[in-house]
Amino acid sequence: MILAGGFATRLRPLSCSKPKLLFPIVGTPLVEWMARWLSSGGVDQLILAVNHLSDRLKIEVGNRVAGLTVEYSVEETPLGTAGPIRLAANLLGKGDPFLVTNGDIVSDIDIRRMLAMHEEAKADATIALVSVPDPSPFGSVLTDSNGIVKKFEEKSASPSAMSHVNAGVYVLNPSVIDSIPDGAPVSLEKEVFPKLIRNGRMQAWMHDGFWYDIGSISEYVRANRELLQRQEPNAEAPEATDQNGGEILQPSYLGAGTRIGVGAKVGPLAILSNNVSVGDEAVVRNSIIFEETSIGDRTVIEDSVVGERVVIGKGSKIRRGSIIAGQLTIPGSSMVASNSVILC
Ligand code: GTP
Repeated sequence: MILAGGFATRLRPLSCSKPKLLFPIVGTPLVEWMARWLSSGGVDQLILAVNHLSDRLKIEVGNRVAGLTVEYSVEETPLGTAGPIRLAANLLGKGDPFLVTNGDIVSDIDIRRMLAMHEEAKADATIALVSVPDPSPFGSVLTDSNGIVKKFEEKSASPSAMSHVNAGVYVLNPSVIDSIPDGAPVSLEKEVFPKLIRNGRMQAWMHDGFWYDIGSISEYVRANRELLQRQEPNAEAPEATDQNGGEILQPSYLGAGTRIGVGAKVGPLAILSNNVSVGDEAVVRNSIIFEETSIGDRTVIEDSVVGERVVIGKGSKIRRGSIIAGQLTIPGSSMVASNSVILC
């Protein structure tokens, strides 16, 4: 189950009309990254626990993604991180352990090895942990030397030195479902896990590969930049773009159907999703542009994020650190000052 019903307030205004699972990560929707990862770990069926913007997710994801079948469990009101598990009890596990993941991570956590550890430890729940350079935004998880979880710590300015953070990926036994009250918002981290910890039934799986939580704009941007730098350049792919004499500075990513005008400069670190159009002599550097956005001639965009289906008129300047919500029109010759947020 992917928990995908949160309001994604930290990604506003980009998330006002676009669910987090559809956010492009180097041009590919997050749900596809997650489905490929889950599929490589042996998962063949996805349940999306949805609420906010569920109709859009249903239309765009449909019943299949990256070879996985998709079912939807729709909450009438948000049920937190544990309530959706109870709501979908009849779809989950069918007597076997099942996997639950937050719907905002990009990672290569080894699901098969995590499940093997869960079974070997005879735990009721196994949680993936990662160590990050700055654990303070996340809240830490303390374990003993056998990897048994001892304590969840709230977000703290001075987290324990040896702590790891919750990666948002769990293997749960069906018995955990019974401990979740029905029909009310319940938190896994604050209400369900503390009971398991008291009984010594919660195991940790230490992940040492890559892991991004894209739930804030700064982390979303960081994930895109770092994942772009891991990929082979695609800007020369003839089917991906009609460059028309523009200059592409690597690393950059150009989605299918991208058009680059004469004399335009794109990159370095420009990530253009599908069907973006960049006008003549426009400049786009160190920025993420969502699908179907149109950038006018001579417009300059630097160090910014522009939502989907935005039209930016000719000769505009979008200065560094700006965020422009989807589906807006910015008139020609506009000046958007540094660190501006243009709302939906
Ligand atoms: P913020 O508002 O920016 O904190 O984002 P968020 O609403 O996504 O919350 P958070 O990042 O803490 O949530 C972690 C995961 O749980 C995300 O994948 C959310 O979509 C999901 N989630 C949070 N609340 C709910 C809920 O009430 N229902 C469901 N189905 N998922 C939820």
